[in-house]
Amino acid sequence: MANWKPQNLGNLGVLVLIVCFLGFVCFSLVGFRHVTKQHPETKDWRHFEVTEVRPEDQEVISVILIFNNATKNEVFRDEFNRTMTSLFRHATIEMDIYIISDEESYTLAEEILAENPSVSYKTIRFDISEVIEKLADTVYSMQELFSSVELPYFQNILFHISPAIHRVMPTFVHRSIMIDVDLKFLGDIRLLYDQFRHFNDTHLIGIANEQQPTYRHLFKEYRHQNPRTIIGDPPPNGLPGFNSGVILLDLEKMRNSHLYNTLLEKEKIEELAKHFMLSGYLGDQDFYTLVNLVHREMFYQLPCEFNRQLSTWWLNHGYEDVADLYINCTNDVIIYHGNGKSPIPE
Ligand SMILES: *[C@@H]1O[C@H](CO)[C@@H](O)[C@H](O)[C@H]1NC(C)=O
Ligand SMILES: *[C@@H]1O[C@H](CO)[C@@H](O)[C@H](O)[C@H]1NC(C)=O
Ligand SMILES: *[C@@H]1O[C@H](CO)[C@@H](O)[C@H](O)[C@H]1NC(C)=O
Ligand SMILES: *[C@@H]1O[C@H](CO)[C@@H](O)[C@H](O)[C@H]1NC(C)=O
Repeated sequence: MANWKPQNLGNLGVLVLIVCFLGFVCFSLVGFRHVTKQHPETKDWRHFEVTEVRPEDQEVISVILIFNNATKNEVFRDEFNRTMTSLFRHATIEMDIYIISDEESYTLAEEILAENPSVSYKTIRFDISEVIEKLADTVYSMQELFSSVELPYFQNILFHISPAIHRVMPTFVHRSIMIDVDLKFLGDIRLLYDQFRHFNDTHLIGIANEQQPTYRHLFKEYRHQNPRTIIGDPPPNGLPGFNSGVILLDLEKMRNSHLYNTLLEKEKIEELAKHFMLSGYLGDQDFYTLVNLVHREMFYQLPCEFNRQLSTWWLNHGYEDVADLYINCTNDVIIYHGNGKSPIPE
């Protein structure tokens, strides 16, 4: 102890701290690996102070959906029931289900999910008002631009949440699937999640084409002034726009992309909408469709079978001659989307 000096005490302290820290990390990882989860297990993280960490190798996927104001709305409840029952029937992977809702709707969602005991899952509630408050900047500016006049104000807002959802999702969630609840799964949601593997470095979002001439119509003005544009043309050579019923979100890349976050600013969205003369009414999908016109590298095109839309509205509203070109999807359907309240085949 001849060389003992007071600062050795400091070094010893640092060493002890490091050892404790490493021990804690190992313990946490091992601890989590051995968690066997019961369902339904619920948590209410209203203030987004979510700190749970999962080890990389645990197979679980995160699913986000909005289920709001549902208790008095039987049609909506039945749609949700069909979406989730069919999802669970085919799922072979554990899920964390983030439900953006009010308290009563969340309780109802839990009841419906509990009737489907085939797969392990966990639900997490995000309070709808808090989500909107937190995303106010983008949500309100998009609402100004891309809203249907027919929907009540509040319901309308819900269609504008997804592009900024990376700002409320807990940071340990790197990837998520966001779905509408007017779907029917004919296959495993794992197949959908596997589509992330096709993302390249610049892809942030995976989304399928709109399967009707909707944007041929909405970009009518631009197409008129730019007769040679492919905007609004059918696939495979055109840009028919997107449908947001099923989206893959690389939340981590969305958080880290300065460019993407700039595009969420009000002035940027306004500028784009003005340039392409779009007065949309379809919320988030108007946004994705517009951004794709200038930053195609951000979007992975999800194959049509993952969002097979059933609405045929434009078939009898002036686009009879071209509608077929947009609906062309010959692959075996994995997810039906009963958009526009369309019936879904049994
Ligand atoms: C709930 O739905 C009713 C009728 O469908 C509507 O009047 C009301 O504004 C909605 N409330 C919210 C919070 O969405
Ligand atoms: C959900 O649907 C199933 C049939 O698919 C039905 O038995 C069940 O009662 C429904 N649950 C609710 C809460 O509507
Ligand atoms: C990723 O693919 C898109 C087309 O979907 C393309 O525009 C983009 O350049 C690709 N990015 C890289 C880094 O290869
Ligand atoms: C439908 O798509 C396939 C390939 O995806 C293409 O070969 C075929 O020509 C298309 N049919 C029409 C009517 O566009």
